[in-house]
Amino acid sequence: MSKLLLETLKGNPSERVPFWFMRQAGRYLPEYREVRATTKSFMEFCYSPDKAAEVTLQPIRRYNMDGAILFADILVVPDGLGQDVWFETGVGPRLTPVTDEESFSSLSLNGFHDKVGAVYETVAKLKHELPADKTLLGFAGAPWTVATYMIAGAGSKDHAAARQLGYGNPELFGKILDLLVDATAAYLIRQIDAGADAVQIFDSWAAALPEPAFDAWVIEPTKAIVDKVRAEHPDTPIIGFPRLSGTQYEKFVDATGVNAVSLDTGMDLGWTAKHLQSKVCVQGNIDPHLVVAGGQPMLDEAKRILDGLKSGPHIFNLGHGFVPETPPENVAELSRFILKYRR
Ligand code: CP3
Repeated sequence: MSKLLLETLKGNPSERVPFWFMRQAGRYLPEYREVRATTKSFMEFCYSPDKAAEVTLQPIRRYNMDGAILFADILVVPDGLGQDVWFETGVGPRLTPVTDEESFSSLSLNGFHDKVGAVYETVAKLKHELPADKTLLGFAGAPWTVATYMIAGAGSKDHAAARQLGYGNPELFGKILDLLVDATAAYLIRQIDAGADAVQIFDSWAAALPEPAFDAWVIEPTKAIVDKVRAEHPDTPIIGFPRLSGTQYEKFVDATGVNAVSLDTGMDLGWTAKHLQSKVCVQGNIDPHLVVAGGQPMLDEAKRILDGLKSGPHIFNLGHGFVPETPPENVAELSRFILKYRR
């Protein structure tokens, strides 16, 4: 049976537009909250293959998306490198910050696959359990975005700590990015070995970087990962997501060699069709907050996006992940609408 989403990623669009949603598994679903409540620590939950596979499949059962995204987190990679990572309720992710040569020296690739191996088990389980027409998506955070957490030791608004280290100590910052390139490429290769059909690299905090920083911190590490993954798995599509990078999306596509890009909510569809979709598959970009509001305005916007991107390969998705207050019935209505639409 052919996988519509995978075919679209490879540049072969069809009449029906395939879809999946970022954060399609998560707190907005009561069945997720039920399984999540059985494990106190979020990292431990990510390393529980039975539970992680179960919550990956929950949204597919409800909404019949074309793609299932592995349930894990981008902070699995620093955890695998030996950094302490934990989640505090009401606060978010916390890490022991990497700010100098000494804290950097405690990180290493030794033992990485043993530490994160449960994630590969989740992928293998999903490969087995997912219906044959569904595409299994693996993922990782991009080095820049993961570095913002590693350096600040938490989520941060303007990523001040990472930017200041990048400008002030480019040597140490470069070593952090290089280690993340090696770990992330190895991590994605193992996910594909275990059965992932395609992978997405989330650069959620690529916004508002000056051109030279965007080139060095976003494009170069992503290109290095693409090259390494492609050397092992030449036919596996890779999706990039340089979120909120505006017109810099175009050189991102040209320079990294990704097969597809995920679009944030601010992308102009006409510009996207002309400058991006003429070269690669695009994915997006309804506003997750419009799915909270729902109703006819949500469906009108879904139609505008589907019509606006119908001249090339398109996968319907959000411009960023679902928020916890999303009503599940709105996701059902949106999913039915996308499933019925024909180009
Ligand atoms: O369904 C899916 O999309 C797959 C699973 C997934 C999660 N995180 C699960 C998760 C994916 C792809 C991610 C990626 C991720 N994690 C990103 C990149 C994408 C984006 O949203 O920009 C980032 C920046 C993170 C880091 C992270 N993890 C944050 C900021 C948080 C929220 C902290 C909080 O407590 O609100 C997380 C936790 C997290 N990751 C949750 C889920 C479902 C919620 C925690 C819980 O269930 O207790």
